[in-house]
Amino acid sequence: MTTADIALVTGGNKGLGLEIVRQLAERGMRVYLGARDETRGREAVAGLTTSGDVRFVQLDVTDRESVRAAVALIDAESGRLDVLVNNAGISSEVGTAVPDITADQMRATFEVNVFGVVTVTSACIPLLRKSANGRIVNMASRLGSLTALSAPDSRQRKLGALTYSSSKAALNVLTLLYSEALRADGIQVNSVTPGRVDTGIGAGTDRSTDRTLADGVRTPIHLATLPPQTMTGEFRGSGIDESPGW
Ligand SMILES: NC(=O)c1ccc[n+]([C@@H]2O[C@H](COP(=O)([O-])OP(=O)(O)OC[C@H]3O[C@@H](n4cnc5c(N)ncnc54)[C@H](OP(=O)(O)O)[C@@H]3O)[C@@H](O)[C@H]2O)c1
Repeated sequence: MTTADIALVTGGNKGLGLEIVRQLAERGMRVYLGARDETRGREAVAGLTTSGDVRFVQLDVTDRESVRAAVALIDAESGRLDVLVNNAGISSEVGTAVPDITADQMRATFEVNVFGVVTVTSACIPLLRKSANGRIVNMASRLGSLTALSAPDSRQRKLGALTYSSSKAALNVLTLLYSEALRADGIQVNSVTPGRVDTGIGAGTDRSTDRTLADGVRTPIHLATLPPQTMTGEFRGSGIDESPGW
């Protein structure tokens, strides 16, 4: 990592995204804090107690024009992108049993967690190609791990988070196929699960956990600061060397 690395974090105004923004800025990166809501985004930047270079950029991952404008702003100001953290994510099924989940609920979750990632990633690839060490970090989940979901008694299977689990499994496929497609460009693409951290997501479900935001972002920060040619197409857990299994 050079001191001048340029990063974009989607959904950076709160939760894990905000902590990732803070820690990348502390490491000397110029960080674009993406937020779909301008007031929440600007308040997040103002509330950060870092002396680093953090800049608000309006970015709704479901809105192509907003993504295009955000990437154009980064291009005009910085001319390249070194790190993209696809962090924005939702869970839209709280309290609905699997047999009652509708296709509209599936679409709503996929709109952000999958289609939004494709919109942002494809728009950022030209800028990432201008980096000497492009890195994409996809915020996945153990709830999307087919390894975990195939275990008959697993918490992930019992929870029955149909839309969320499916979307995070699809996100892992994006990681694998983007990593292959961008290997020749030296762009490293990895998935990570932060482990269960009590944030805005999944409100209304059992969020009991003693993991802090700092615990949750340890591996995402590691992946966002990888030296060139270190690893790509991997799925890492809350321990840097641990893989939850795809
Ligand atoms: N917390 C956990 O235990 C856990 C575990 C596994 C994976 N994850 C993943 O980690 C990531 C961060 O989650 P979190 O726990 O920090 O949740 P969070 O506190 O709910 O934050 C989610 C962020 O995503 C943003 N967002 C939602 N829809 C968006 C859109 N259309 N465009 C742009 N931004 C949007 C939210 O913005 P608003 O403030 O405007 O709503 C917010 O900034 C997610 O991808 C989540 O699936 C979390």
